[in-house]
Amino acid sequence: MEKDFDRGELIRRALEQQPAAYAPYSGFYVSAAVLADSGEIYTGVNVENASYPAGICAERNAIAHAAACGERRIRAIAIVGGPGGENRDYCAPCGICRQVMREFCNPKEMRVLTAKSPEDFRERTLEELLPESFGPEDLIRE
Ligand code: THU
Repeated sequence: MEKDFDRGELIRRALEQQPAAYAPYSGFYVSAAVLADSGEIYTGVNVENASYPAGICAERNAIAHAAACGERRIRAIAIVGGPGGENRDYCAPCGICRQVMREFCNPKEMRVLTAKSPEDFRERTLEELLPESFGPEDLIRE
């Protein structure tokens, strides 16, 4: 049985960091908070670039933050985002970010929360958002 966690707290951590998003080109401010197996929470925001493709999403920054601090397993991620930093809709993670989540989790257990507020969110497993995925185990040779 997997451990439970405080969804409201994870979403609050993402919301707290959202003003740090650097989105001068799209005006779309995204923030993510990752819960690692250790119990620590790591945040990340989208950071755009004048050379547009060099920009990076909030989710990947949060996961890279966790990995850079030595984490190798993640249990959940909360995502908030919207034009002008107003979270009127649930901000879905892009395909590349879903694949990056896949690297460090069990997709059947990993929880992806897309939130408008700590009380108003959707919850899916990564398996639901990225079915039949390719992961590290697929590269192991017998
Ligand atoms: N973005 C994210 O950071 N995460 C998402 O889940 C969707 C999109 C960013 C990328 C870009 O800086 C801006 O939002 C508009 O696409």
